[in-house]
Amino acid sequence: MKNVARLITATSVAAALTLGLGAGSTVHAFDEHEATIDYRQGVMRAIGGNVGAIAAVVVDGAEFGDNLEMHTSQLVALSQDIPGLFPEGSDFPDTDAKEEIWDDWERFEELSNDTLEAAEALHAAVEAGDEGEYAIRFRNLGQSCQACHDDFRRE
Ligand code: HEC
Repeated sequence: MKNVARLITATSVAAALTLGLGAGSTVHAFDEHEATIDYRQGVMRAIGGNVGAIAAVVVDGAEFGDNLEMHTSQLVALSQDIPGLFPEGSDFPDTDAKEEIWDDWERFEELSNDTLEAAEALHAAVEAGDEGEYAIRFRNLGQSCQACHDDFRRE
């Protein structure tokens, strides 16, 4: 429990720092989608943080296996509605989202759903303690992120 508490504290501090920096560098405070973009980038970073933490355990053997379920359940929750983070027109001002998202919305939803399903599959394996499945399901998850970034995120 102590580790979890420390992890949560560390995450909040990091988030507060990021927010502080973000606010300081804001130029287009009046832009309609700015807050939305900040929010979705924050969610994506949270997703990325959980994936990085899981990789440290599953791939590199960090001894935090007891925390895996926390990370996978967060991933499932955060991936629930990725398309909802991308309202039409939110390709401006400061974003790496490509315009193609709104030209190819169905594909974007499909790829988002692949990530949700991959996160659910990994979560199910962790809940069942089915360690033999962790590596492959984690890899599938990573590939699902990559597939969307390849098409819809600027380098
Ligand atoms: C359906 C598409 C899609 C999926 C699936 C997806 N992403 Fe993203 N991701 C994006 C887009 C688009 C951006 C750029 C958002 C922006 O800059 O406004 C992004 C940005 C990011 C960022 C950078 C956030 C920042 O600080 O600007 C990280 C980290 C990230 N994604 C991690 C992940 C991980 C890890 C997964 C899989 C578990 C994932 N993403 C799944 C589309 C996706």
